Amino acid sequence: MSLNHYFTNNNNLRSEERVIKYCYGSTCFEFISDNGVFSKNKIDFGSITLIETYLKHKKNIHNFLDVGCGYGFLSIVLAKMLKISGVGVDVNLRAIHLAEKNALLNQVSVSFKESNIYENVTGTYDLILTNPPIRAGKKVVLEIFLKAKEYLAEDGEIWGVVRKDQGAKSILKVLSDTYQVEILEKNKGFYVFSLKRR
Ligand SMILES: C[S@@+](CC[C@H](N)C(=O)[O-])C[C@H]1O[C@@H](n2cnc3c(N)ncnc32)[C@H](O)[C@@H]1O
Repeated sequence: MSLNHYFTNNNNLRSEERVIKYCYGSTCFEFISDNGVFSKNKIDFGSITLIETYLKHKKNIHNFLDVGCGYGFLSIVLAKMLKISGVGVDVNLRAIHLAEKNALLNQVSVSFKESNIYENVTGTYDLILTNPPIRAGKKVVLEIFLKAKEYLAEDGEIWGVVRKDQGAKSILKVLSDTYQVEILEKNKGFYVFSLKRR
């Protein structure tokens, strides 16, 4: 049996690019997607809930880091709506190449790079956001959130989304040892939360 997860690199997977549309108010975006990446046929509801909740509560930020950026949805909407630049990282090279094309297509300045969690990340960020790879396992998910504080600017915030039935409550319980946790939205079982340094 072959296990082709969306987060593994599989160069043999046939490419069948498609375009997905998304509008935030009157601003519309197009995303090129393909086989072998997360949520290839439609924008993930958790990601939409995360970005729309963040934009409702947004702060004056200058940069961001999107961990597990996929084809760039969160990064590109954030960069466009807030007129800022940022960095997106992912282990999936096909997703990174799509994200680069999508940044050009939507005319934003985001630098996308391959990275296993924070391996190739430098600098500090006012916002670190993630729709984490639940299927990669709880260890990876917790590492994304717990190590984020090393890359957080002073007064920076981490924002995430996790589904209740994918362990949101137990993940937030662990994170509350390290961070001040606030739940900002619960929508169809998706919890959107922010984490701040204690
Ligand atoms: C739930 S998806 C979110 C994708 C994108 N942010 C979106 O909103 O559509 C999680 C992403 O994490 C990536 N990922 C999995 N393991 C990773 C790791 N160890 N380091 C970085 N990214 C990883 C996957 O390839 C996938 O693109």
